[in-house]
Amino acid sequence: MRDSLRQILLSRWSKPAVFLLCLSPLAFLGWRAFHADLTANPVEFVQHFTGDWTLRLLLITLSITPLRKLLNVPDLIRFRRMLGLFAFFYVCLHFLTYIGPDQAFNFGGMWKDVEKRPFITVGFLGFVLLIPLALTSTRGWIRRLGGKRWQALHRFVYVSALCGVVHYYWLVKSDHRLPLLYGAILAVLLLFRLGSSLLKPRPAVAVSPVQQTNHVP
Ligand code: HEM
Repeated sequence: MRDSLRQILLSRWSKPAVFLLCLSPLAFLGWRAFHADLTANPVEFVQHFTGDWTLRLLLITLSITPLRKLLNVPDLIRFRRMLGLFAFFYVCLHFLTYIGPDQAFNFGGMWKDVEKRPFITVGFLGFVLLIPLALTSTRGWIRRLGGKRWQALHRFVYVSALCGVVHYYWLVKSDHRLPLLYGAILAVLLLFRLGSSLLKPRPAVAVSPVQQTNHVP
């Protein structure tokens, strides 16, 4: 079972398949737009849809390490960078929907909104935190920063996901079940991470993220 899973993960089709899967929400959006089926409020629909996919992809990215360890399939790591970059891609679309169709490129008004509305402030912070992570996701940057510093920087993905959850929780007016569910998933992932780093004996030679991320072209 584990061997066949590894074979699938290591096949040369696995990365293109994950790539297409990550693109499918965008294809779905394009399909609905093409058929003029983006509801009576298309801007709100796109904003919510891209926001949802940002948060889902962030949580999926954060699940890779726990899943690798629990299922004992280290090869899952091959997909982590792609998933993280897709989360960034969807947050860019989310942000563009906000500054474009929503705020009509009125950057002054947008900045006031960031200052005034706490859910926008925290969402903006979540977005800004992802920028250096996306920029430094290449092998070259891992080498330049050194494994430890790179890993420390990339832990900010937890803070960004937390900002995403709080952003969602604050913007929802009545039914908080979904943001709370995302928050619970994030808490479990964070506890797993803390638990495994506290319990694990330190290796004599740390494995560099370059070795871990056998996924950079
Ligand atoms: C990590 C960053 C972010 C995440 C994870 C995120 C996630 C979300 C989610 C899950 C929703 C609600 C979707 C739904 O109701 O189905 C949402 C809505 C929204 N987000 Fe974000 N977001 C982020 C950053 C931002 C930024 C940077 C802005 C703008 C500066 C923004 C503006 C909005 C707006 C205006 C809405 C709709 C609010 C409403 O209709 O009441 N978000 N976002």
